[in-house]
Amino acid sequence: MSMNLPKIQEVKDLSRIERIGAHSHIRGLGLDESLDPRTNSQGMVGQIEARKAAGIILKLIKEGSLAGRAVLIAGQPGTGKTAIAMAMAKSLGEDVPFTMMAGSEIFSLEMSKTEALTQAFRRSIGVRIKEETDIIEGEVVEIEIDKSVTNGGKTGRIVLKTTDIETQYDLGQKMIEAIIKDKIVAGDVITIDKSSGRITKLGKSFARSSEFDAMGGQVRFVQCPEGELQKRKEVVHTVTLHEIDVINSRQQGFLALFSGDIGEIKSEVRDQIDAKVAEWREDGRAEIVPGVLFIDEVHILDLECFAFINRAIESEQAPVVIMATNRGITKIRMTNQVSPHGLPLDLLDRLLIITTKPYTSDEVKQILTIRCEEEDVEINEEAMELLTKIGTETSLRYAIHLITVSNIISQKRKSNEVEMDDISQAYSLFIDVERSKAFLRDYEKDFMFSEVDEDGHNVDNDNNKKEETNKSENDKMNLD
Ligand SMILES: Nc1ncnc2c1ncn2[C@@H]1O[C@H](COP(=O)(O)OP(=O)(O)OP(=O)(O)O)[C@@H](O)[C@H]1O
Ligand SMILES: [Mg+2]
Repeated sequence: MSMNLPKIQEVKDLSRIERIGAHSHIRGLGLDESLDPRTNSQGMVGQIEARKAAGIILKLIKEGSLAGRAVLIAGQPGTGKTAIAMAMAKSLGEDVPFTMMAGSEIFSLEMSKTEALTQAFRRSIGVRIKEETDIIEGEVVEIEIDKSVTNGGKTGRIVLKTTDIETQYDLGQKMIEAIIKDKIVAGDVITIDKSSGRITKLGKSFARSSEFDAMGGQVRFVQCPEGELQKRKEVVHTVTLHEIDVINSRQQGFLALFSGDIGEIKSEVRDQIDAKVAEWREDGRAEIVPGVLFIDEVHILDLECFAFINRAIESEQAPVVIMATNRGITKIRMTNQVSPHGLPLDLLDRLLIITTKPYTSDEVKQILTIRCEEEDVEINEEAMELLTKIGTETSLRYAIHLITVSNIISQKRKSNEVEMDDISQAYSLFIDVERSKAFLRDYEKDFMFSEVDEDGHNVDNDNNKKEETNKSENDKMNLD
């Protein structure tokens, strides 16, 4: 089978400078050298134990000693589970893959659940490929380019030297064009990739620095290379198993990576790739880099998915799987089986569990202050006190949303500082979950498809059985 080695260094997601996103203020876990969390650092506040645990996990991931293990971050809504996962992603090494997905993404029409999971797992496993290429590296002594009289084409020669030797090479058409385009002249130090003919200019030779003085400060000077002109150079690039799958699974595979039009990948393709990668590893040409797969809202998955995850984390090439959930003791999706976090016991048994706890009002205030700075919102002390009170009594997320809204309200009255009144207006314009619930109870008759009868009881769709309104909400760890 012919393998297309992707000629890319690394495929990174486009990261836009975006400050409105819920977690844009998170820049890392905010730990010191001994992995102890600083109280307020890198956008992270409080949640000390969970951050410390996350730091230890991060260290194990970097050492490669956690592969095939899975972690669950469990806690009430808005306690920073997703934030911690984002912070971990920011602190991972450059070429360690990190894949983030919400549980619901697995239920798509384009592919089966197991295919979606397989792709997610393979996106999270890196292959560090070492390639040796032959290059010629030297200082240009002279370049000669002639126009051919017979066909108008150009021919040329270049003389390159190191401190030890000097050799003349014939130039091909492409190389001549490159030399003209990059304005390569005598005194430049260049490399030529022997297989592709690509020319790279490294700088000007120090030996001739006096001649280039007049060119201003932008010139970069390098030493004239030593020894042989021909050298072997090792280049390393990391791609994910998924990228290799895509590139090899269709004619225009490489483009599919950009268009996102991937579809299902045949298992034969994956088998061949696994065999090839195993071969490369044996030859010492490639290394596996286990990355991280983060599945948020994991309680959305069903037994089939959990069985898949169970098996996948025990396979030889497995990333570290981090999951998050805000569910307490609840039913596993599509079953009547009740279990902690809505996860089956055999999966729970394999997990390291980190818990997040509700914030104190002081921590809420610090997080809200960071968010105001992030969104460039000036806010006075009184308004901040009120916002903090709202954050503690309703939810942190709701208070974060009010920042943006109250800022617009303050701008409308041509002020550049949010005051208490702006916050109260925002608070009455946009209601939080509790008030929304109360409103629904009051006006429930006027809504379509209401499942609560006149006495405020839930009406079960299937058998018309009445149930306490609050019962189904016990699933969620708090909310109330
Ligand atoms: N310790 C923290 N430091 C700074 N910001 C935080 C912290 N915890 C949470 N936040 C911010 O508060 C908001 C809510 O947190 P997050 O979305 O992480 O909660 P969650 O636990 O994932 O909730 P859910 O269970 O509803 O998904 C986010 O904007 C997040 O960035
Ligand atoms: Mg979350």
